[in-house]
Amino acid sequence: MTTGTTTVSTTGTTASSPSTSQPNLSQTTGNSAAILGLGIYRPRRIVPNSEVIEEIDSSDEWIQQRSGIKTRRFAGPDETVQFMSTAAARQALGNAGVEATQVDGIIVATISHLLQTPAIAPAIAAELGADKPVAFDISAACAGFCHGVALANDMIRAGSARHILVIGVERLSDITSRSDRGTAFIFADGAGAALVGPSQTPGIGPVVWGSDGERFDLIRQIEDWRDVVADEAPTMPHLTMQGAEVFRWASFEMAKVAQEAVDAAGIATADLDVFVPHQANNRITDTLARAMKLPEHVRIARDIVDQGNTSAASIPLALARMIEEGEAKSGDLALMIAFGAGLSYAAQVVRVP
Ligand code: UT7
Repeated sequence: MTTGTTTVSTTGTTASSPSTSQPNLSQTTGNSAAILGLGIYRPRRIVPNSEVIEEIDSSDEWIQQRSGIKTRRFAGPDETVQFMSTAAARQALGNAGVEATQVDGIIVATISHLLQTPAIAPAIAAELGADKPVAFDISAACAGFCHGVALANDMIRAGSARHILVIGVERLSDITSRSDRGTAFIFADGAGAALVGPSQTPGIGPVVWGSDGERFDLIRQIEDWRDVVADEAPTMPHLTMQGAEVFRWASFEMAKVAQEAVDAAGIATADLDVFVPHQANNRITDTLARAMKLPEHVRIARDIVDQGNTSAASIPLALARMIEEGEAKSGDLALMIAFGAGLSYAAQVVRVP
């Protein structure tokens, strides 16, 4: 499904109490939105492949060859979801030149805030010193950050908020089994934040997003909490992934979605400067780039090599590294595409802040 301009208009009649005045339910402000600043947090501890293979029958060579990962980051006890989020958010605010008190929306994409309720977003808002913003979490796994950017874009264009922090944050090391051969070497921790706000020219293209619930079980928490507590010796439920099937789906289906996002932005693939796919596997990235026939000049994010797969945090972390290393500069056109559990996906073209 492609969402272009959001135009909500209704005449809003009521049957029981006719009124002479017409309600104004129209929300077309004509505002444009853009990413105004990015911020990230990488946990301190760097974990090499030699450490993760201790509990799985694997090798440094296999992991590098099959995924591209050399090292990843695992958060320490003090590097909580809230801590990493506020650190990334403060950096995004600083880079955008916006005060926390100007933020009227916080959207946190995560699957590893392990308190069922409340959401972590209001706590982050309070720690940042924001002034009672709308604050909620979304669960779209690895696609969550791109969902958040799309929601923020639509909210700003509709006039329901002005400055929105979109945060992608994970502590996947808490919910990954160190002895699961299919996931132990992949998942990692970190946070990224984007401050989305008003802009004279649109900086966020139409989102192409959707889901495939037929593939619900391909990446999932192994059992639900009721089954966990019913166990005689409960253990932390972990993520499980049917990697090869997800790999095939991502490589073929996501190439079409990526192309749709470029088309929806009204540009050609050759107009892109930067390609920032979800950092799931370097071989998926290569397949997508080939399928899209990305020209040589388009720089491609490879953050996974030193950071692992951080789910909702992977795209902002990858884009921030490209900015740091001079591979992406302000004003560049970047294609972001994220995909994962659900299966869920979202893609859009954005201007690099
Ligand atoms: O972030 C959400 C979205 N996630 C993704 O998009 C991830 C998609 N999937 C993948 O990235 C890949 O499927 C993995 C990197 C997880 C696995 O790579 P693969 O090439 O798909 O491996 P496979 O499961 O097809 O297994 C190939 C071989 C098998 O051996 P045989 O049967 O060929 O002898 C496995 O037993 O590799 C073996 N294998 C391993 N060997 C060493 C599987 N896992 C490992 C391992 N170490 N950890």
